[in-house]
Amino acid sequence: MDIKKVMVIGAGQMGSGIAQVCAMNGYDVILHDLKEEFVDGGLSSIRKQLQRQVDKERIAEADMERFLRRIQSSTHLSNAEQADIVIEAATENLETKKRIFAQLDDIAPERTILATNTSSLPITEIAAATKRPEKVIGMHFMNPVPVMKLVEVIRGLATAQEVYESVEKMAVSLKKTAVEVNDYPGFVSNRILMPMINEAIFTVYEGVASPKDVDEVMKLGMNHPMGPLTLADFIGLDTCLYIMETLHEGFGDDKYRPCPLLRKYVKAGWLGKKSGRGFYNYE
Ligand code: CAA
Repeated sequence: MDIKKVMVIGAGQMGSGIAQVCAMNGYDVILHDLKEEFVDGGLSSIRKQLQRQVDKERIAEADMERFLRRIQSSTHLSNAEQADIVIEAATENLETKKRIFAQLDDIAPERTILATNTSSLPITEIAAATKRPEKVIGMHFMNPVPVMKLVEVIRGLATAQEVYESVEKMAVSLKKTAVEVNDYPGFVSNRILMPMINEAIFTVYEGVASPKDVDEVMKLGMNHPMGPLTLADFIGLDTCLYIMETLHEGFGDDKYRPCPLLRKYVKAGWLGKKSGRGFYNYE
């Protein structure tokens, strides 16, 4: 399966990062979102990222222009007709993803691989919304995509071996390390990361230490680049809660119960960096 043209669904932080990395590594990219202004927003953040690389003399101005020319804008899902692979990075909502995959299945050629960047939703269930479950796979990039080296490649129950191999090869061509994971809630990354973040929130909730001190312990004591509460703010507290709920429901085990303080913050609209307030203040 020769992959040359990639369609990325969703021009938010993850989608634009994926589009950037694909364009920088020789792929033609279709960057798709519901509205033109969303696609433009994604393109301008890619330009900003690339400009930073130019300023640091890592790439030439001409390279930046060449990478940007490889990215075509889209607001019509029918552009999936041209894609060898679609990587979906839309909202983390199972029904939305199932709807998008059913539409893509009708539009995209038979050869097209349908990948999702979901951070915890079941690949097997998303695949079941299509008539090609053997061509559906998880391709979970980490944030910030241009910096982080990992891609979790998640096999749904029906994912074909050659589809897995093509996606693994593509991840390597993006200069990432691919890790093979089977489809269970949270995969590997969020099954381990989110309970740690949730426990850090319980530590604050129970008055053991302040957010700053919890982060200090994990940064200086465990050499994490960011403390768990800074990282939670960076990921988005709504996303953290959603993933904890997915783990809690998926395994039915109380050890994944979201901390009440996390629920309270999300209800208050304190979603972390993106809303200006979370465990820290960003205003
Ligand atoms: N986009 C692109 N590049 C970025 C960036 C961004 N948002 N933020 C930082 N960078 C780049 C900087 O330009 C810099 O690049 P150079 O070294 O090439 O100059 C480099 O990253 C380091 O940045 P800084 O020196 O400003 O800051 P730092 O050393 O603290 O690094 C960080 C920033 C890479 C984000 C680091 O703090 C880190 O690794 N944090 C943890 C990130 C993490 O855990 N991500 C996973 C989140 S979980 C997830 O994604 C899965 C999920 O499903 C929820």
